[in-house]
Amino acid sequence: MNNLIDDLGRRVDYLRISVTDRCNLRCYYCMPSQGVDLTDHKEILTYEEIVKVVQASVRLGVKKVRLTGGEPLLRPEIVNLVRMLKGIGGINEVSLTTNGILLNKYGEELLSVGLDRVNISLDTLDPNKFKRITGYDQHRQVISGIEKALELGLDPVKVNVVLMKGINDDEIFDFINLTKEKPLHIRFIEFMPAGNNSAKDDDRYLSIGNLKARIRKRERLLPTKFNKGNGPAYYYQLPNALGTLGFITPISNHFCSSCNRLRLTATGQLRPCLSSDNEYGLKEILRGNKEIKELEEVFLKSIRRKPKEHQMEQGDNFFKNMSEIGG
Ligand code: 5AD
Ligand code: SF4
Repeated sequence: MNNLIDDLGRRVDYLRISVTDRCNLRCYYCMPSQGVDLTDHKEILTYEEIVKVVQASVRLGVKKVRLTGGEPLLRPEIVNLVRMLKGIGGINEVSLTTNGILLNKYGEELLSVGLDRVNISLDTLDPNKFKRITGYDQHRQVISGIEKALELGLDPVKVNVVLMKGINDDEIFDFINLTKEKPLHIRFIEFMPAGNNSAKDDDRYLSIGNLKARIRKRERLLPTKFNKGNGPAYYYQLPNALGTLGFITPISNHFCSSCNRLRLTATGQLRPCLSSDNEYGLKEILRGNKEIKELEEVFLKSIRRKPKEHQMEQGDNFFKNMSEIGG
């Protein structure tokens, strides 16, 4: 039974959990280069608290969770959290969105506790450009993280590429070609105005329509049966390719009407919409002298307040940095 259905008929069965606001990169569109004010550790939900929140959400209909950050693999003992979440009856899938740097290190352990799959963020195949985008010389680690995920047989392995005009649109075909040789699912995401960072007034936006037109001049985009995911990506395949190409259009064709998710911030706020700073606190219930049942009430309230749609295409940008929300 799912009680997380809003007035527009949207059914929420997916919770994205940000486990930390810390990151070992400074992607310029996500965090200001000087970093952000880091939240005091005491304010961050403990794993036991996260489990209580997920248990409450499962009672209402959530079936899948994804760990995000910041960078989730930076949080100490993250493998334990995956194990704890996998042990919750009713949770069918635990996945992870990571920048990949620590995946080589933790991949095996994560797999052994039952992690279902990973999305790895990588915006360029050029190590120098990687340093310019992220501030760090860690390209090689990310590539080895992706290789590790493939080697371990995690399936699917998705790579998220934020499409940025003048920055990585000259690499479209390099990315696409990866799917010919490897079972990778390369997903291009339209650049969103996010946070109080340098990306705010930035004109990096390039539509997926424009990207597909460019691709079609040189390649055939075939329909594909691949559709494994919880989200709004739609997929194609090049002839005989091992992997697929996914497209995510938060700006040119937003998918708010089929939104199936809620977000939990690292500090224990439920966030009904990525682009709206309306949040509903759970920590007061977890740490106060309150009935655990009240967690469910906050879930129901945040479902009622889920906005119909975002206005990002009109230049609205949400206030928080992406690193605090987890994408
Ligand atoms: N626009 C588009 N995608 C973004 N991400 C982070 N910030 C933005 C933005 N401004 C992506 C990351 C990651 C996912 C969680 O969100 O690259 O793949
Ligand atoms: Fe870190 Fe991801 Fe933000 Fe880059 S986009 S700074 S990897 S949280």
